[in-house]
Amino acid sequence: MAHLVFIETTALGVQSIAYAKRLGHEVTLLRSPLYDFITPPAERARAEVLADRTLHSADLQEVGLLTGLLGEHGIGVGDVDAVLSTLSLCVLSASRLAERLGAHGTPYEAAAAARDKGRCREILRETGVPSLGFAVVTTPQQALAAAADIGYPVVIKPVSGVGKAVTSIVKDPDGLRAHFASSAEELRTMQPGIAAELDERYIVEELAVGELYSVEVAAGSERFTPLVAVGRKMGRDNPVLELGCTVPSGLPADEEAELGRYAVRVCEALGLTLGIFHVEVMQTVLGFRLVEVNPRISGGSLPDSVRMATDHNVFEILVDLFLGAPAPARPLPWHRAASHTFLAAARDSVVPRDLPADWFEEFRPRLHSGWNRAEPGARLRSMKGNFDTFGMIRVVGDDADRAAREVAAVRRDIEERLGFALTAVAESRGEQAAAAPARGDG
Ligand SMILES: Nc1ncnc2c1ncn2[C@@H]1O[C@H](COP(=O)(O)OP(=O)(O)OP(=O)(O)O)[C@@H](O)[C@H]1O
Ligand SMILES: [Mg+2]
Repeated sequence: MAHLVFIETTALGVQSIAYAKRLGHEVTLLRSPLYDFITPPAERARAEVLADRTLHSADLQEVGLLTGLLGEHGIGVGDVDAVLSTLSLCVLSASRLAERLGAHGTPYEAAAAARDKGRCREILRETGVPSLGFAVVTTPQQALAAAADIGYPVVIKPVSGVGKAVTSIVKDPDGLRAHFASSAEELRTMQPGIAAELDERYIVEELAVGELYSVEVAAGSERFTPLVAVGRKMGRDNPVLELGCTVPSGLPADEEAELGRYAVRVCEALGLTLGIFHVEVMQTVLGFRLVEVNPRISGGSLPDSVRMATDHNVFEILVDLFLGAPAPARPLPWHRAASHTFLAAARDSVVPRDLPADWFEEFRPRLHSGWNRAEPGARLRSMKGNFDTFGMIRVVGDDADRAAREVAAVRRDIEERLGFALTAVAESRGEQAAAAPARGDG
């Protein structure tokens, strides 16, 4: 029996804890109310029921506090086999704690380099992995100079940003000035758990133009495997916004293999030798280019879509890796297609009060799965990032294009039922196909 320490969990990440318990391992869960906004109460409660013990701390970033807390329960150096986190905001802390306890963990230096988008691109440059032009800046003046150098349009985002916090695509100097002007307000109203991640550093990057993909790269026992590649749905009006995924990716086999090799090179260059890493990559005319690498498994709904398409659970593979198993030898073969789309309001909106409480149920028969938090009368904030979604809809079928078209059609019908605009998906990802006449196959 091994002892695993999890720092926080995402909603779907509870599956890792459940799996570790099914295998008969001991699980300690470290939690803080700072991250309550990420994981719904039911999943949080389930994680705590599954874990052998849950230790609460006001702060999960200070490794001394965590070792102290564990020490109070008789857990010290040599008592723990692995420390991991499925939550972006806690991966660095998990790496640090693993090193301190002499347990398996994602190497801290590598995780820290990945979480620092500037350092990450520096390493790619040093190791010859194709990347994008960039500069790290702390003032609007430096940002203007960097953008002039790189050439507009550019992306500006916090070096350790998550969830699309204060991220903009800007096409001219005025856009950059507007970014800095509005960022102060955004930082003021942000969840403290996210604000704690950010400092005054921004990265200004060349804009990669093309289709966005992500790859889950598994690393363990000196093997790196691109487990699964998926196509990502971006916002039509603001491509920074992330609106869902389709698995399989839809890329021809040779291009998907090249994408996998590229994502593996990125993880190798950074030294991400243990874990599952979420690598976001744009296919540009010049080839695949990194958008960012998250030194943790995918968040959102993607892991469940992968499970539905491949019959493999990436949260189980994650636990196996941390317990010393080598990365799977090959990418996960897929048997079905799954496409999910997030629901979010394009502008501040109110759900009509006269809708039935169970309005979402009307759409269930057309879906494989989904959820909705928009009750009649609810006020919805216009979508600024990942945490502003109020629902998710998913179609599973034989064909990726068809699944994407079907889920797009349901999204449009939901929009009509709600009577306000939802954040629209960029046309290349199923929406356009849905608007076009059916190709005779329904
Ligand atoms: N250099 C770039 N070129 C083109 N698009 C980009 C670039 N950088 C970021 N984007 C877009 O902005 C989005 C957010 O950027 P990024 O993934 O780096 O930030 P994030 O806030 O860490 O997101 P996450 O929620 O995945 O943690 C990307 O998904 C992509 O659509
Ligand atoms: Mg991202």
